Amino acid sequence: MFIKKGLLAATILSVSCSTALFAHEHHQDEMCGETKLHGYMMDIKNELRAMSSDIKSGDNSAAAERIDSLIASLEQSRNETPYQLKAEKLKGEALATQQKEYVRIIDGTIDVFKNLEQALLSGDSAGIKKWLGEMGSQRQQGHGAFKANC
Ligand code: HEM
Repeated sequence: MFIKKGLLAATILSVSCSTALFAHEHHQDEMCGETKLHGYMMDIKNELRAMSSDIKSGDNSAAAERIDSLIASLEQSRNETPYQLKAEKLKGEALATQQKEYVRIIDGTIDVFKNLEQALLSGDSAGIKKWLGEMGSQRQQGHGAFKANC
């Protein structure tokens, strides 16, 4: 009887401890779609929607004023590691190579936004069209290489 109670206590202890451990791990591990990077990307998406209404209503200077915040979100994104690379558990050289490529595409996107800003400020509609197209292509490259499907 004494042994059985001891066994029971040990079982409860080990279940509660492992539950606590799982809870801890769950808290520590980021989930796909809940990363800081995901948040910055949502900021970019929202700012682009607002920019699109500015352009539609012919307010190019309001659209241009959104570029600083778009670039700030990309600079924050630059400091993050895509979820996919973490999920793949890449380490060392392999991780460094992928992260460098990720940063290269982010930086290319920042350049595109700088060019778009100039086109907006000078009322260059062919330029606006061109740089919006380039933005879409940067997005496609970045997502094609680094966005996990979740
Ligand atoms: C410039 C236009 C961009 C827009 C509007 C955009 C938008 C978004 C949105 C809405 C999400 C989350 C929702 C979803 O899963 O679709 C997302 C996720 C993601 N985006 Fe972008 N994105 C852009 C550019 C980029 C670029 C240039 C890169 C990489 C160089 C990139 C890398 C990622 C990654 C890696 C995720 C997944 C989040 C994670 O790994 O934690 N995005 N993006």
